[in-house]
Amino acid sequence: MKKGLLKKIMGIALVGVMAFSLVACGSSERTGSKEDKNMLQTIKDKGELVVGLSADYAPYEFHAMIDGKDTVVGFDVDLAKEIAKDLGVKLTIKEMEFNSLLGALPAGQVDMIISGMNPDPERAKRVDFSDIYYTAQHAVLANSQNADKFKTVDDLKDKKVGAQLGSTQADITNEVIKAKDPKFLADVNSLILELKGGKIDALVTEKPVAEMAVKSSDNLKLTNITFNDESGGNAVAVKKNEPELVAEVNKTIKKLKDSGKLDEYIVSATELSSKQIKK
Ligand code: ARG
Repeated sequence: MKKGLLKKIMGIALVGVMAFSLVACGSSERTGSKEDKNMLQTIKDKGELVVGLSADYAPYEFHAMIDGKDTVVGFDVDLAKEIAKDLGVKLTIKEMEFNSLLGALPAGQVDMIISGMNPDPERAKRVDFSDIYYTAQHAVLANSQNADKFKTVDDLKDKKVGAQLGSTQADITNEVIKAKDPKFLADVNSLILELKGGKIDALVTEKPVAEMAVKSSDNLKLTNITFNDESGGNAVAVKKNEPELVAEVNKTIKKLKDSGKLDEYIVSATELSSKQIKK
């Protein structure tokens, strides 16, 4: 072999080794383990996307009887279905308490969270977020006889204000309303019952959820107090440092937004939850 050619081959081999070690290093940084597959590939290989959510949040995600069967539905579920379809895998929904979702992602119990979650900076330290797929204000719900009495945040300070444990609304209750006697529960449906039973005076949730509660139960009313969300809306959460997976999720979100499909999902989820029997 000619000297020049040998040199060239060695050069190529060296570049190869360097490239390999770069890749190896990149992937171990990504997962913190020796595993070199990214999440996107892992999901595709197992043929299944496991989405975690807390199905107590109509019209985002809730239980409904579909053809006589108790089913988890809502526009988050429709989004999850479409993401799974675009990835070419089957969808498995894993229900958990909202407060447990964030930990379930790094622990590998779920591949993704789609649960009306706001991408706030605290959460963004632990997980990565997709683009925003939906934007809503936060609202304050009360019993009909009280709703008009609560005009400003100050009117709520001394009241028993409820919110979901670990939610943005719990932060609002603590930091913006500065409620002296807050009540945080894991489940939004329990909070609605507490409100109806007079055990709490007000409940903070995303506005569409508060509106749904008004439709599906007598004697509840929205106050005029609302809060804008600083994080900009709701996003899908995935494990940290999985840009390939985030890119795929964003592709699906963009497609559904551009085609108007996402709006359709929201309308039909709202209709479906309005049809649920009054409790
Ligand atoms: N958007 C709020 C948050 O990010 C509440 C979401 C509650 N979702 C639910 N499925 N219960 O904290």
